[in-house]
Amino acid sequence: MPTIPTRSLSDGCSIPVIGFGTHPMSDAEAETSVASALDLGYRLIDTASLYRNEIGVGRGIARSGVQRSDIFLTTKLRGGDQGIVETKAGLKGSLGRLNLDYVDLFLIHWPMPSFNKYVDAWRAMIDLREEGLARSIGVSNFNEAHLDRLLDETGVLPVINQIELHPAWAQAHLRDVDARYNIVTESWSPIGRGVPLGLYPPVAAAAQTHDVTPAQVVLRWHLQLGALPIPKASSIEHQRENLDVFNFELSPAEMKAFASIKQERMDEDPEFFVEL
Ligand SMILES: NC(=O)c1ccc[n+]([C@@H]2O[C@H](COP(=O)([O-])OP(=O)(O)OC[C@H]3O[C@@H](n4cnc5c(N)ncnc54)[C@H](OP(=O)(O)O)[C@@H]3O)[C@@H](O)[C@H]2O)c1
Repeated sequence: MPTIPTRSLSDGCSIPVIGFGTHPMSDAEAETSVASALDLGYRLIDTASLYRNEIGVGRGIARSGVQRSDIFLTTKLRGGDQGIVETKAGLKGSLGRLNLDYVDLFLIHWPMPSFNKYVDAWRAMIDLREEGLARSIGVSNFNEAHLDRLLDETGVLPVINQIELHPAWAQAHLRDVDARYNIVTESWSPIGRGVPLGLYPPVAAAAQTHDVTPAQVVLRWHLQLGALPIPKASSIEHQRENLDVFNFELSPAEMKAFASIKQERMDEDPEFFVEL
């Protein structure tokens, strides 16, 4: 079984450099997939209150037999739970569904700036970290202005910013902002939700050169950018393939060639998106 390298977060905790996404999975599918992913060697599991599969994720963890202390579990605060009291209740609800005493990482799922509650949610998350219910705290889908506001109003920065990131939405500016703040950029939809990655010429060329699949090239690209991908895979073959990315390296020219890929966001704009 491969041992996945880890990297340090700015709060001193460490996190595996690649993880396992669970959206969209039902409870039943999450239970099976999380157990098989842990069995294959994954140690970072990503879920969210919004996914409605935390019960299944918790069951998959229990079924795997892997020690809790060896697992890095992330969940996220749903939009409707932003606010001081609501955020604390939100995490307690997640812990109950997961059947866990703590999460390794708790993220604000979307900033929802029009609600103007994410700073309150952040203050509550700082308390939750102090209480030990979340070992690390971070955000998802935050732009530069949202990060600046957290710093200005609380003095505390997130350790992770989980954002849409794949070859067709490479987010160079936001990655630079995260790096400046010592925030690890985590990539959601890292392989573009199953788009035929081989249609991108730089991906196809690198796959041929290194005798790997297009998905493996793209996951390697994330790792070499310094981003942390969390691919979702229900198929065990995909789960295994996505972990097998530590035996080859893209050259600087191969990395640079990704710049030719046309850029287009696949999902919602965090400036306007509201999820309750
Ligand atoms: N924070 C946020 O707002 C946010 C938003 C979206 C997603 N996320 C998180 O990020 C995770 C990953 O994103 P995602 O699920 O949207 O997209 P993704 O991981 O880029 O793509 C998943 C799709 O790719 C397929 N796939 C997996 N491995 C493959 C391989 N080696 N070759 C070919 N196809 C492969 C999967 O098929 P099979 O399942 O059939 O194997 C599935 O259809 C989510 O599960 C979730 O945990 C977070």
